[in-house]
Amino acid sequence: MKLKILVTAGDGVGPEVVKEALAVLEVVAQVGGHTLELDHKRIGGVAIEQDGTPLPADTVAAALDSQAVFLGAVGDNKFDSLPASKRPEKGLLELRAALGGFANLRPVFAFKELTVNSPLRPEIIDGSDILFIRELLGGLYFGKPRGWDKAKNEAFNTMIYTRDEVSRVARIAFQLAQKRRKHVTSVDKANVLEVSQLWRATVIEVAKEFPDVTLEHQFVDAMSMHLMKRPRDFDVVVTENMFGDILTDESSVITGSLGMLPSATIGGKVNLYEPAHGSAPRYAGKNTINPLATILTGAMLLRYSFRLEAEADAIVAAVRKVLEQGFRTEDLARTNPEGLTVLSTSEMGAKVREVVKSMLVKA
Ligand code: IPM
Ligand code: MN
Repeated sequence: MKLKILVTAGDGVGPEVVKEALAVLEVVAQVGGHTLELDHKRIGGVAIEQDGTPLPADTVAAALDSQAVFLGAVGDNKFDSLPASKRPEKGLLELRAALGGFANLRPVFAFKELTVNSPLRPEIIDGSDILFIRELLGGLYFGKPRGWDKAKNEAFNTMIYTRDEVSRVARIAFQLAQKRRKHVTSVDKANVLEVSQLWRATVIEVAKEFPDVTLEHQFVDAMSMHLMKRPRDFDVVVTENMFGDILTDESSVITGSLGMLPSATIGGKVNLYEPAHGSAPRYAGKNTINPLATILTGAMLLRYSFRLEAEADAIVAAVRKVLEQGFRTEDLARTNPEGLTVLSTSEMGAKVREVVKSMLVKA
């Protein structure tokens, strides 16, 4: 099979982590007799500097012409003084809109070896396995009107959803729940917001198509607490854009590090794959950042764009094995360094490649 992928490595640590993930995909492709056809384009701060815009037109064209887009990260503090409409992040938001993927899948999985890294007690998080579905194209991020009226000293954004925008993402949540533990938690703020009342009514409607799946509702404030107190009780969690942004960063605490959270955005013309973490400019170029979120994102790409399930499973299994063998990047070795081997970004990538190769060749 030919895998035509557009790579937008972006800013900060983006290029380093993407490099390792692509090298893992390359090994998987070689063993399986597949060909990676890679094209690289700019996005974010590097694009602002070289092209004068955070999302050059040729990046969009190449993205739409590919089978999957693989993104590192965007953002740098040197652009902090720019208005929201000119920042590197704007490039990512425009790319998401152009690709049309509305369901952002963020699996939060507690690897047993990493539970000591979490400030939460192991007996709380052991066995947690949550799939967040964050609506990615609506709500406050894209709602109009928006703006900052300097003369009036007033700024505003709009949280708006249509019934169709809610039902399409809810349907994906129920479909994925059918393949898991058949439980959906819908998160809203229906005790205060009309937009959440429409959200809840729509999710209840869609649930009727999936009688085998249990639906529960939680208010977002309460949910943020339940996730820390009893994360094992959740299976699929579906929520609007901003709530999902916040709850998934919060939930990275369950995985022990934000460097462990992959993501895939599906449902549009071309799927978009990006780790949930940011560009971490402080760590850029140091070869110390954790590439595992991006490597796990590569597994999601194989699964959701190419149906290469066995290969995707092998990458996840290889990551688990490497952790079992005591290998860690620096972020994962701070709390409890005894008996662990700290690897650089590139060494961690090489380790995963070695293990994934031996697994696939054996299989
Ligand atoms: C994320 C990020 C982005 C978001 C930023 C970089 C625009 O925080 O993917 O979670 O808010 O969606
Ligand atoms: Mn975020």
